[in-house]
Amino acid sequence: MNIILTQPSATPVIQALRSLGYNAGTAIADLVDNSIDAKASKIVLEFKYLRNDGAIIISDNGSGMDEEMLQMAMNIGSKDPRENRQPNELGRFGMGLKTASFSLGKRLSVLTKYNGDYAQRCWDLDHVSQCNEWQLFTKIPDEIKELMIDIEGDSGTVICIDKLDRFMGAGTENAIHTQSFFTKVRRIHNHLEFVFHSIIEHNNVQIILNENVLDPWDPFMTKHPSTLEGETQVFNINGNRIIAKYYVLPHASFLNEQEYKRAGGNRGWRDHQGFYIYRENRLLHYGDWLGMLQKDTSSQLARIRIDLPNTADDDWQVDIKKSAVIPPDNAKIRLESIAKFVRKISRDIFYFRTQGAHSNQTFKGSLNTWELSGSDEGLRFILNRNHPMLTEIQNRIDDETSKLLNMYLKFVQLGSPSNIIDSPKVAEEIIQMVTDAMKDLVIQFSSTLIKLHVVQNQQQLLDALITQPAFDGLNRITLKSIVEEASISYE
Ligand SMILES: Nc1ncnc2c1ncn2[C@@H]1O[C@H](COP(=O)(O)OP(=O)(O)O)[C@@H](O)[C@H]1O
Ligand SMILES: [Mg+2]
Repeated sequence: MNIILTQPSATPVIQALRSLGYNAGTAIADLVDNSIDAKASKIVLEFKYLRNDGAIIISDNGSGMDEEMLQMAMNIGSKDPRENRQPNELGRFGMGLKTASFSLGKRLSVLTKYNGDYAQRCWDLDHVSQCNEWQLFTKIPDEIKELMIDIEGDSGTVICIDKLDRFMGAGTENAIHTQSFFTKVRRIHNHLEFVFHSIIEHNNVQIILNENVLDPWDPFMTKHPSTLEGETQVFNINGNRIIAKYYVLPHASFLNEQEYKRAGGNRGWRDHQGFYIYRENRLLHYGDWLGMLQKDTSSQLARIRIDLPNTADDDWQVDIKKSAVIPPDNAKIRLESIAKFVRKISRDIFYFRTQGAHSNQTFKGSLNTWELSGSDEGLRFILNRNHPMLTEIQNRIDDETSKLLNMYLKFVQLGSPSNIIDSPKVAEEIIQMVTDAMKDLVIQFSSTLIKLHVVQNQQQLLDALITQPAFDGLNRITLKSIVEEASISYE
């Protein structure tokens, strides 16, 4: 065979692995993912400042690992990313434990307990660099073990990262001081409150950071009575079920100072607009329009939740840090149409406070002429039949006029440019299967055209029907059979 087995030399690989672009927040989140995947109900993070160094300790009461599992877990690339993950699993490339830890510091110690038995391993990159080989310690140094809390129950895991050269400049002249250390820790605290808010709300899990319990941050202010909440929309993109739901936050005048500040997150209102992409309930990315639209001040009330299953990873190009996604093209079309719709509502509320004075009743957007509606077949725009102006018109006209108006509105809806884009191309020559509702619609529409003297005979009628966007899916002979079957008269 024309093959030579090569051993990548350790030192340069380390440098590459340490430079994948994690920041402290994304790195810690990746480690918390592992504890959640291990079904932990309590995850405790400790950031210790130790003068010239520091230590980050994460302990959980999850499933733990036996010796063999731990050995696998410490391997660089322990699971094939193409392998199907459990539903709800947050892991992705089998790299996070190592790459996230090494982006913070040079030593990673793992102590774990499985059915009462302990196992331990320790990577020290100083040592790996020195011998230029992937030598893994089977024992954690005593001074580190002292820092690690004992695992109380039958199972659980504690990891400790120290030699924090990246996180705090340990071992260099620029080691950060206590105050900046804890400012950094505060930012991580906030980041975790964002990333895991939905998991904390849905699952039975508590996350504690330096003795403070994480308080889930709800970007959509779902509990506020003036928040506008769209319908849940489900669509199928390349075999994955994607769920979208839009929210328009209340106008600032409806919020007290504390609510206003909290909803502004860590970046401010303007930089929190846009899509919030979740993978298995864990927030991956937020605060922009994914390159499709520009941010602007009047759109700052618009936030759209998108939920992806982990089977969509490849399709949406979820990156190794689980902090970025690139939607596939066919998803972009849908996302953009929702975005434009929601931005418009945001603009109206931002400028005109259209939520009105009835602030203790949830406003469902009833002043919009169009509403988005979703089903497995895709998104559709439907006319808002409860618009107060339309109700008023209906009250003022007689029954017959009302029927005519309703039919007209039905056609406006069916003919809406955004609804006909996806309609299938018509096959000629065969009589198609048509639902009774569709037949009725053809017949009603035909009778109206005849009554209004728009058409005088079958030929003209069919010419008119075939050009209607509402009947786009039907071919001529099908339409002909419907009108003939109904024996429409042309008098
Ligand atoms: N806190 C933990 N508790 C139990 N098992 C863990 C924990 N952290 C990591 N593991 C195990 O180590 C494996 C590798 O973790 P990681 O490198 O983060 O990759 P991934 O999460 O993508 O599988 C995990 O799949 C899991 O089996
Ligand atoms: Mg992981």
